[in-house]
Amino acid sequence: PQDVGILALELIFPSQYVDQTELEEYDGVSSGKYTVGLGQQKMGFCSDREDINSLCLTVVKKLLERHSIEYSDIGRLEVGTETIIDKSKSVKTVLMQLFEPHGVTDIEGVDTTNACYGGTAALFNAVSWVESSAWNGRYALVVAADIAVYAKGSARPTGGAGAVAMLVGPNAPLVFDRGVRATYVKHAYDFYKPDLTSEYPTVDGKLSIQCYLSALDNCYQLYCKNIAKKFSTNVNLNYFDAVLFHSPYCKLVQKSLARLCLNDFLMATVESRKLQYPGLESFNNVSLGNSYFDRDVEKAFLTCSKEYFEKKTKPSLLVASQVGNMYTPSLYGGLVSLLISKNISELAGNKIGLFSYGSGLAASLFSITVSKDCNEASPLCKLVKNLQHVKPFLQQRQKVAPEKFEANLELRERNCHKAPYEPSGTIDHFFPGTYYLTKIDELHRRHYDRI
Ligand code: ACO
Repeated sequence: PQDVGILALELIFPSQYVDQTELEEYDGVSSGKYTVGLGQQKMGFCSDREDINSLCLTVVKKLLERHSIEYSDIGRLEVGTETIIDKSKSVKTVLMQLFEPHGVTDIEGVDTTNACYGGTAALFNAVSWVESSAWNGRYALVVAADIAVYAKGSARPTGGAGAVAMLVGPNAPLVFDRGVRATYVKHAYDFYKPDLTSEYPTVDGKLSIQCYLSALDNCYQLYCKNIAKKFSTNVNLNYFDAVLFHSPYCKLVQKSLARLCLNDFLMATVESRKLQYPGLESFNNVSLGNSYFDRDVEKAFLTCSKEYFEKKTKPSLLVASQVGNMYTPSLYGGLVSLLISKNISELAGNKIGLFSYGSGLAASLFSITVSKDCNEASPLCKLVKNLQHVKPFLQQRQKVAPEKFEANLELRERNCHKAPYEPSGTIDHFFPGTYYLTKIDELHRRHYDRI
């Protein structure tokens, strides 16, 4: 099959949020720490009415409905998540509730987990399946979903929640570039969830930033080598029309683009540096490994990459700044943001670079080529048109005071893994079509309804 890639996208996020300016005041931190220092505006969160299953049920059902896809058209379905509520039963099997009434049970795939990377791993699996001898002509559906919550303290404002579903198949408008992606996997204890009774991770914030940036350096260097080998082309930031990143918080993404600019600078010959990067000679001997927290390097390359950031990365940060870190869907929320930020004719033919990072750690840098066909009846036009509700839905959310947000997290903490359990959260604020938890019975079986 040719042009294997993404044919349709669906994004959901919580209908309630806390404002980061209000949270700064409530937490007693200096004004601007979350909004300017981290670059976050609003943070979506879930009440006790939502869990990983309900998010995934909602996003799958909405994608199939919006795109009029038959249940029997799906031949593979898998979920990437780090929001674990069962050590054995996959979320994928829960999603089969949607398919069974239509007599559809012949669907491969289960769940994939490694922090924020699970969605990307699932996506790579789906693409491989379509390209393989096992393919049966049907679509693959990839779901990335998480509820990102942190214990009280400095990491809490970097939470979020959401889900993305991606329909994968041939002749797609967003085509995965073959044979060039780069991966970096290592053992690190930067962010992990060893306490199976809690939703909260154990985090070493500074180490997680260092791991993220070093994975980015390594993936970018390897991606550049792969392209040079395959196409005899030198990659630098000019190669891409858009560069998207997993977004723990938006400021780190801006620093990441600056980091790629530093890589470009170091990969350029000393002669060409003088022409392309005037005034940066004093950084000629910077080493990647020793500069993760070097303020002078950071400042110089933030300035140097500012125009690139505005043009190639900032448009992809809408959902990340308005919802927060969704974990596995974060990068794909970036893709949705990009797609709704431009005219279709501006998107046509674009080369998009994507960096996926999951603590622990696993990371990949890969690229997508947008199809050139952008007429009214084109798959690209259809894909983008079906995302037009995202911006209005972001506006329609309900703001909740920080006190209530915190009380909600305490409620989740107290009742995590409790059975039997009757959720107490209201359901009136949900967007139409949302699945929600009605009860957990004494055998920990979860029951859902749809609004
Ligand atoms: N106005 C403007 N900027 C401010 C202000 C202010 N009033 N106050 C602080 N800042 C800046 C700081 O200078 C800092 O900027 P810098 O990053 O350029 O140095 C930034 O705001 C954050 O302040 P810090 O003091 O560094 O924040 P803190 O250490 O309290 O927490 C952290 C930040 C570590 C990111 C924390 O939120 C965390 O642990 N988050 C979870 C882990 C994470 O997201 N890691 C990223 C990759 S891994 C993953 O995806 C989970």
